[in-house]
Amino acid sequence: MAEENKKFAVLKFEGREIELPVVTGTEGDKALDIQTLRRSTGLVTIDPGFANTASCRSQITYIDGEKGVLRYRGIPIEELVKKSTFVDVAYLLVHGTLPTEQERLDFSSMLNLNSLVHEDMRRFFDHFPQGAHPMHILSTMINAMAAFYPNVDINTTIANIEQSCARVISIVRTIAAFAYKKSIGEPLVYPRHDLSYCANFLNMMFDSPVRPYHISPEAVRLLNILFILHADHEQNCSTSAVRVIGSAQVNLYATISAGTSALSGPLHGGANQAVIEQLKMIYKDGDIHKFIKMAKDKNNPFRLMGFGHRVYKSYDPRAVIIRKECERFLARSGITDPLLDVARKLEEIALKDEYFVERNLYPNVDFYTGILYRAMGIPENMFTVMFALARLPGWVAHWREMIGDSTKIVRPRQLYIGRTIQEIGEELETRSSRFLL
Ligand code: ACO
Repeated sequence: MAEENKKFAVLKFEGREIELPVVTGTEGDKALDIQTLRRSTGLVTIDPGFANTASCRSQITYIDGEKGVLRYRGIPIEELVKKSTFVDVAYLLVHGTLPTEQERLDFSSMLNLNSLVHEDMRRFFDHFPQGAHPMHILSTMINAMAAFYPNVDINTTIANIEQSCARVISIVRTIAAFAYKKSIGEPLVYPRHDLSYCANFLNMMFDSPVRPYHISPEAVRLLNILFILHADHEQNCSTSAVRVIGSAQVNLYATISAGTSALSGPLHGGANQAVIEQLKMIYKDGDIHKFIKMAKDKNNPFRLMGFGHRVYKSYDPRAVIIRKECERFLARSGITDPLLDVARKLEEIALKDEYFVERNLYPNVDFYTGILYRAMGIPENMFTVMFALARLPGWVAHWREMIGDSTKIVRPRQLYIGRTIQEIGEELETRSSRFLL
């Protein structure tokens, strides 16, 4: 447990000394508890992007960004990748420990029982325009789930919460595959109870009445690894969105839909698609140095996609594993992807360049992921959807932790810097329209 209130930091302000408690986490990280600051001093804190704010206490995921450490419920991701499946990790994140044999069976069976999309929802797919991005379809469909499966607000029973969490993890996979099938005009493929989570997804994506899909064990292994590595990442943008929206006590599906929308942005989960688009552009152009120069130019909004991270100031431990698996899979399958050469070269140049070194900019989880997905035959516009599927257990775990922990609505303060009442002058008198008919 975190150690509370044994140490204090002293703030000197307007001739007074104010003691603020220092809280220590289980891994030794320290935080200043400022909850009483405004009451005792009138001060609020300013922290754009919450870069230095711990928005909650959490037992789910630990990151040491300086050392490149990532652990779920205390277990290093390197171990989980070697020894567990994605379903085990989903259970771990949501329930706190790895499942026993019986718990694994029960959880898998719950995922299977909740994998079908309501038949009336299936018709929604007919009304999205051709070429709609699957991420837009996904967040819309997840939000619509609340209408089909009510009773998922925080006041419902534990049994309902368990079922809703399993349902969202399972159905979203079906929705994602349906969205893809719809986008290519092929008939939808239903989930099968005899297949494991990742095999089931690949089958729904690639099976066709005219071309039965052979489920490759290697593709299933890789998907398990990729999904495990993306399963949680503490208070990232989409998870914070889930916690913020959830704090208003809206239903689980609305919160997960909000997380999905946040994830779609190119600075977050959307980066995996953006990386491939950028690598293609660089490959076509042929001049890597030109793009490195553009990334360093303060007057150019261009950024090297898949580089940099708010928390990691060393190599992202997920990228280490993904790069290795990517190199291995391409070599073993005899696939030559020129984009891998471009990526390797970019990394090599950037890691020696003063600009990137000074700012601790390393490849992040998205840098090699897209190349691996491409080699596995996953279409580019599905990359971020894959990320969303993998992140579901994390979002669900954080939602559950939040509703069990605190009922406080998230509502930050601000520092107003707009016009004062004195500055308004006669504007209201002279410019208002009175009663418009
Ligand atoms: N290319 C070039 N310069 C960069 C990059 C990059 N990819 N990332 C950061 N920088 C520079 C910034 O310009 C800034 O320079 P300055 O100090 O001279 O102003 C400095 O490094 C710090 O960057 P910030 O934007 O302040 O860092 P922040 O923590 O706010 O942003 C982010 C992190 C959004 C990931 C950023 O590194 C970025 O935009 N990366 C590219 C997009 C990307 O790969 N996103 C995926 C992140 S992983 C994930 O969400 C799953």
